[in-house]
Amino acid sequence: MAGGVSAPPLAGAVCEAGGLGFLAAGYKTADGMYQEIKRLRGLTTRPFGVNLFLPQPDHADPAAVEVYAHQLAGEVAWYETPLGDIDRGGLDDGYDAKLAILVEDPVPVVSFTFGCPSRDALEAFARVGTLTVVTVTTPEEAAAAQWAGADAVCVQGIEAGGHQGTHRDGPQSDGPGIGLLSLIAQVRETVPLPIIAAGGLMRGAQIAGALAAGADAVQLGTAFLACPESGAHDLHKQALTNPLFVRTELTRAFTGRPARALVNRFLREHGPYAPAAYPQLHHLTSSLRQAAARTGDAQGMALWAGQGHRMARELPAGQLVQVLAAELAAATAALTEGSAP
Ligand SMILES: Cc1cc2nc3c(=O)[nH]c(=O)nc-3n(C[C@H](O)[C@H](O)[C@H](O)COP(=O)(O)O)c2cc1C
Repeated sequence: MAGGVSAPPLAGAVCEAGGLGFLAAGYKTADGMYQEIKRLRGLTTRPFGVNLFLPQPDHADPAAVEVYAHQLAGEVAWYETPLGDIDRGGLDDGYDAKLAILVEDPVPVVSFTFGCPSRDALEAFARVGTLTVVTVTTPEEAAAAQWAGADAVCVQGIEAGGHQGTHRDGPQSDGPGIGLLSLIAQVRETVPLPIIAAGGLMRGAQIAGALAAGADAVQLGTAFLACPESGAHDLHKQALTNPLFVRTELTRAFTGRPARALVNRFLREHGPYAPAAYPQLHHLTSSLRQAAARTGDAQGMALWAGQGHRMARELPAGQLVQVLAAELAAATAALTEGSAP
């Protein structure tokens, strides 16, 4: 979870409890990513993963971005903060430099989102013994991941919090997405790769359901947002279970790419006309989101959350892994008993 959430303390606590903790390389420099890897190695000797954003093709319409910037004038006045620089950071996010570091000093697992890496990149990881996972949101994307040589796919349902990992985003690709259980079955019938299921999973019984539907493992985001080790802002953590925030929506309002967040004022007002322009809108709105957080205004922040947000538990991450494992064991036992003759 990029944006400071999955920092070494959270990933380390998950690993120590027997899960596979991930560091987020998105929005970070290559050196920033490497520093976190070194810190995490100091916290755990267990396997962990690093998640990379694929560089995005520049399909943004500059005129649409400019119109959006004008529409944000009221926010600029309200938060007394200028808009961010849309060119900051560029489109590739230091991707090649990150790949070079990860091949030079390998980590156990590397996962990708926002696209499918090249066969060359995946082969380079295979040569150094790193397992690769490509996030997919359709059976076609799963087939592309298999062709490129991925070891596994992370099957991300429409319920998932944060960005959808859709490979090619653009003005034409605003489809509604596929629910997790249906997507697991569709991918299972398309590729022979191991499936890691993600989206809306908050309890062990749901994990049992995903595994019964054909998944080999699961990936949880929102469930860990409220943990004390998570780097999420306190207002974000509180909002997950605050009855003021009753639902989530997929929106481009904050970053220009569809992502699921709690519906707040900013999303309601700007979501309907936000253009497909990632990462331009991410840079444009970042100063506003930071100002909202500074002034304690959750209505102006990007409150990323999956559809299960109300079931978030404020437990230490290691304890949460244990609780989920116990719930999964109980649900699996109940399923097995149910199927006994
Ligand atoms: C705050 C937040 C940040 C996220 N950042 C990333 C990311 O950097 N890379 C990625 O592949 N997925 C990211 N995701 C999506 C998760 O990998 C996963 O698909 C999602 O959390 C699963 O749905 P859930 O949140 O309902 O558990 C993020 C999700 C959240 C909630």
